[in-house]
Amino acid sequence: MTRRSVIVATGSALPPLRVTNAELAERGIDTTHEWIVERTGIHARHFAADGETTATLATEAARKALAEAGVAAEKIGLIVLATATPDQTFPASATRVQTALGINDCIAFDIAAVCTGFLYALSVADNMLKGQMADYALVIGAETFSRLLDWEDRTTCVLFGDGAGAILLKAEETEDRGVLATRLHADGRHNDLLYVDGGVSTTGTVGKLRMKGKEVFRHAVVNLADVLGETLTAAGHRPEEVDWVVPHQANKRILDATAKKLGLDPNRVIVTVDQHANTSAASVPLALDVAVRDGRIKPGDLIVLEAMGGGFTWGAAVVRY
Ligand code: UT7
Repeated sequence: MTRRSVIVATGSALPPLRVTNAELAERGIDTTHEWIVERTGIHARHFAADGETTATLATEAARKALAEAGVAAEKIGLIVLATATPDQTFPASATRVQTALGINDCIAFDIAAVCTGFLYALSVADNMLKGQMADYALVIGAETFSRLLDWEDRTTCVLFGDGAGAILLKAEETEDRGVLATRLHADGRHNDLLYVDGGVSTTGTVGKLRMKGKEVFRHAVVNLADVLGETLTAAGHRPEEVDWVVPHQANKRILDATAKKLGLDPNRVIVTVDQHANTSAASVPLALDVAVRDGRIKPGDLIVLEAMGGGFTWGAAVVRY
């Protein structure tokens, strides 16, 4: 028996405001529903309204995961929140979630690895649980990317949405349930392909998202296929044993190309990009929650989570659900 981090519940939150491609065009963005669907697979996304923030969405997702598991908030020893869109420059939005959940003492911090943030957060939380820093952890990905978008730039503003997803991890002595392996990477030489053109220490402004989409796309397929293979090998499993792939949801064409490269059945890939667009660090736990709640992912399934984003950063996890 080994001490492992078992996913005992999931939760997610989407702002009520849902905006279709046609509605974006009606707002004056020089685009069409057909272009967006053909190039990305996106049909709609959700945008946070005034008063809705990364921390409020994260709190709602975390509350749902706790309720699903029937675990009291005071049992939580660790909150790791992956986000590139925190409520404030500091303190960490994780501490706002902590307070909203009524927890007065636990470890709480944010992780900034953009779209790979949830994989980084999961890996860090997994190792902290294994290292006996806590017995229960909330791992959350939450974003309000709508607040970073340049509405004059049609090449980026149609691609992103807001939302949050959370998982509740419990340290258990088990043979093979829970997180079996995680692998993380970063290569800062590609900073300028996907970044925000502002920051506290440079411009003193929040800035807007900038992306060279075609180049990101090219790197994404190669890096994701590599890290999926690497992580499966580390976990002692083969691609054909995978029940479900829960990928970062940037572009349906990336999901299809990555599955093909690894020889994975495309029907075994969870797709939510059509309804959520790219929610950065929130996309993997949001997709996971959707597939758990609709009954596709069941206890005992072998699942792989993967993501790639700004930095570049990329990573994957193999989990026995
Ligand atoms: O989450 C982090 C990871 N992010 C990603 O993985 C994103 C990766 N990249 C992508 O998903 C794709 O590269 C995009 C969806 C961003 C773009 O698709 P593409 O097939 O690479 O299109 P493109 O950038 O080559 O643009 C093709 C054409 C251009 O027109 P011309 O120059 O051929 O006349 C663009 O100006 O499409 C035009 N275009 C648009 N047209 C209508 C770009 N954006 C739009 C738009 N509506 N919103």
